[in-house]
Amino acid sequence: MFYYYGRKKQIAKYYPSPNFDTIVEPFAGSAAYSLYGENWKKEVILFEKDERVSTIWQWLINEATPAKINSLPDLRVGEKSSEFLHIIHAATKMAFHYKTIKVTPVLARNWEISKRYMAENLFKVKHWKIIRDDYRLAPDIEATWFIDPPYKEDAGKGYRYGSKLIDYQQLAEWAKSRKGEIVFCEGHCGDYLPFKPLLELKGVAGKTSKEVIYYQSNKTTQQLELFKLCRQ
Ligand SMILES: C[S@@+](CC[C@H](N)C(=O)[O-])C[C@H]1O[C@@H](n2cnc3c(N)ncnc32)[C@H](O)[C@@H]1O
Repeated sequence: MFYYYGRKKQIAKYYPSPNFDTIVEPFAGSAAYSLYGENWKKEVILFEKDERVSTIWQWLINEATPAKINSLPDLRVGEKSSEFLHIIHAATKMAFHYKTIKVTPVLARNWEISKRYMAENLFKVKHWKIIRDDYRLAPDIEATWFIDPPYKEDAGKGYRYGSKLIDYQQLAEWAKSRKGEIVFCEGHCGDYLPFKPLLELKGVAGKTSKEVIYYQSNKTTQQLELFKLCRQ
């Protein structure tokens, strides 16, 4: 919905489409998968531990209108801003640690694009729910679980709640026990689930980064009921 380090906007199309009526994103960020294509029409439940990020979602879902978004001031190169919503548009993972930022041409441009995008797409998120909490507190409902945590090691260190604070074995066990299906994202250091290659992203200066995926579909309650009936 807004610019965010690690967001899945450009690659959302490579992930499996949701098979359930509800999508849960226990690591919400800017929730690009839930917004992609027709996914947003489902019931969408977001969990996000960083209060600054969940506050943006609360505002978008409960208060914002396209007019309010359009009336947010544009940013001029060279000026300073202490607004978190501006700071995350700086296109750097260190942005999460800045209290104030000097507006660069990249930031000003990203903000301009995001403002337009948020105003035009706001209607898609008005029925969504945001919960400011830890992923472990998400109720185990039958859903498509799009699990995109801070990636293990360096790539996930930038966030306020980053990779250092996550027990990846515990996260893997938690994920595997979800009802419905799980779509789990990781980078090249992901070794705690049997991840499969998804794609390689071209970055700056010829650098590439690997995206891997783990998909698991658990039997639905309906299927289990059917199974029990057949055995009777
Ligand atoms: C890789 S980002 C998610 C990006 C998102 N898929 C998108 O498209 O923008 C991971 C997010 O998880 C959040 N997070 C980290 N630890 C968390 C926890 N224990 N519970 C909930 N959210 C957490 C971070 O604040 C960050 O916003």
